[in-house]
Amino acid sequence: MPRKKIAAGNWKMNLSPNEGVKLTMNLIQGNRDPKTHVILAVPATHLSQIQDKLKYVSKIEVAAQNCHQKESGAFTGEISAPMLNSMGVKYVLVGHSERREYFGESNALLKEKIDIALKNKLKVIFCCGESLDIRKKKAHVKHVQKQLKESLLHLTAAQMKDVVIAYEPIWAIGTGETASPQQAQEMHLAIRKSLKKKYKSTADNVSILYGGSVKPANAKELFAMPDIDGGLVGGASLDAKGFGEIINSF
Ligand code: 13P
Repeated sequence: MPRKKIAAGNWKMNLSPNEGVKLTMNLIQGNRDPKTHVILAVPATHLSQIQDKLKYVSKIEVAAQNCHQKESGAFTGEISAPMLNSMGVKYVLVGHSERREYFGESNALLKEKIDIALKNKLKVIFCCGESLDIRKKKAHVKHVQKQLKESLLHLTAAQMKDVVIAYEPIWAIGTGETASPQQAQEMHLAIRKSLKKKYKSTADNVSILYGGSVKPANAKELFAMPDIDGGLVGGASLDAKGFGEIINSF
């Protein structure tokens, strides 16, 4: 089975629910490459409205941006994996660098989140990536391998089928600076090699997305690399026309 080509949008903490619905409708009505899988990671407050609009639309799915590591309990303000599953949500982002940085999420905690998400039938989009400091020290590949090892590589091959990996170098997020296709490919290949060691041929079926200032102008050359299976797009996913162009960049 060939790997899924995925254009995922991460809206972060942007747009009102109505604006989100409008953007979603524009995407639904736009001209989309039917081969591309689209995933929209929307704020929790928007999930059910957007889901509703996508009920009869193929290949556009909704993701939550986060879930708690426990299934229920006294965790005011948090959202659990069973709650997301009961709403029909299919995906959840785990390990975004903003959550690691601003909410202190460690590799060990992310491992718990991944386990609870998969147990509750959510597919995981696992984000990893290095800071500029680490890249300057040429320790970026080791850093990402450690993130994978400590959060992800305990999974079985069967579980890995429900995981998408997003490599997002922190220095490229929201900065306008993109990793070059070669820099991204180097890391994606290293990630795939780590997966291959443990999961053999299953590694060939895991989609690895690149994230960090993906735009209509650079998506084509990034997506043309052999181990880049799509993008996780922040800012540029808030504009239906631009994101539509990214969706059609494979
Ligand atoms: P930008 O595309 O805005 O750089 O954000 C990338 C990102 O963090 C997606 O999760």
